[in-house]
Amino acid sequence: MNERNIMDYETVALDDANNALVIIDQTLLPGRTELISLHTAQEIWDAIYLLKVRGAPAIGVAAAFGIYLLAKQIQTDDYAVFYEEFRKQKDYLNSARPTAVNLSWALNRMEQVCVQNQDLPVAEIKDKLKAESILMKEEDIHVCKAIGEYGLTLVKPGDGILTHCNAGQLATCKYGTATAPIYLGQERGYHFRVFADETRPLLQGARLTSYELYSSGVDVTLICDNMSATVMRNGWVNAVFVGCDRVAANGDTANKIGTSVVATVAKRYHVPVYICAPTSTIDMNTPTGADITIEQRPAHEVTDMWYEKPMAPAGVKVFNPAFDVTDHDLIAGIVTEYGIAREPYTESLREIFALKKAGKGICP
Ligand code: MRU
Repeated sequence: MNERNIMDYETVALDDANNALVIIDQTLLPGRTELISLHTAQEIWDAIYLLKVRGAPAIGVAAAFGIYLLAKQIQTDDYAVFYEEFRKQKDYLNSARPTAVNLSWALNRMEQVCVQNQDLPVAEIKDKLKAESILMKEEDIHVCKAIGEYGLTLVKPGDGILTHCNAGQLATCKYGTATAPIYLGQERGYHFRVFADETRPLLQGARLTSYELYSSGVDVTLICDNMSATVMRNGWVNAVFVGCDRVAANGDTANKIGTSVVATVAKRYHVPVYICAPTSTIDMNTPTGADITIEQRPAHEVTDMWYEKPMAPAGVKVFNPAFDVTDHDLIAGIVTEYGIAREPYTESLREIFALKKAGKGICP
């Protein structure tokens, strides 16, 4: 039996000596904690598609380690040949999931390392790719902590917080985004009462968020997705913190399916909804939520998966979008590592990126 706490594991790690990307297989949680080593493009693609590694920032870092490992295997000293093969592998990994912008963000950043260093020998470009991927992991930890600090300013000790899906440590390299204020509050004696939506159909809230928080000693209560109105009506929720997969330039936000339902209900009960968003998840090239591609997933995730027997008649029509868009007017603030953006988001998000460009404002 494994005695280690889930919080002691690294969500995503590079095992360079063995040419492997190492992840926790999240589809097995909470029952079994198993680390798996991925070596090939197909294995990495499958792990992302099947949600063995999931959550926007974790997908980004996994893709960065993955493309480094695939680049390392390219046997040539010719930059043009190397770059062409790199692009092929990059496009392949990028096709695993469409909504979380961190996937293409991370892969583009890695491609820039090749382009900017094209005059160097290929072996040195590979070293630089390794360094960049490691830096991205370190940055993710720093960014999540900063989001936690800013998020903590929005709540007070004893507050009730509702969250949806898993924007926790398992979705990032540490702290999570939406859970970062909760973990920092826990360290500082805030005694939050957290409600975790189970998050149909893949149950990230039940399997991952409630597991993480419970394992960390946080006061967490698991609820079904259709109970958020009840806990808000009862006055048990002071704020909603959720993560995101892509924030458009106008603040419209794609996150796990059901987030927009929570936000609509929260508006009814005057509960503020905060989107915790690393700048790597904010896509200023996507004007509005209508321009975000929403991933459609297979029917069996709704009808069969996680059940001992089918829960729907064979052949019934199923609609299974993995994400929805929460309109910006339902969002009280977007918490980034450079501060909290507020309406009008078109302006405030631009200001956040100006701070980033100037290298200012990130919480220590
Ligand atoms: O399908 P998933 O499990 O990858 O969806 C994850 C989410 O929707 C998270 O809320 C989002 O990626 C933010 S993770 C910090």
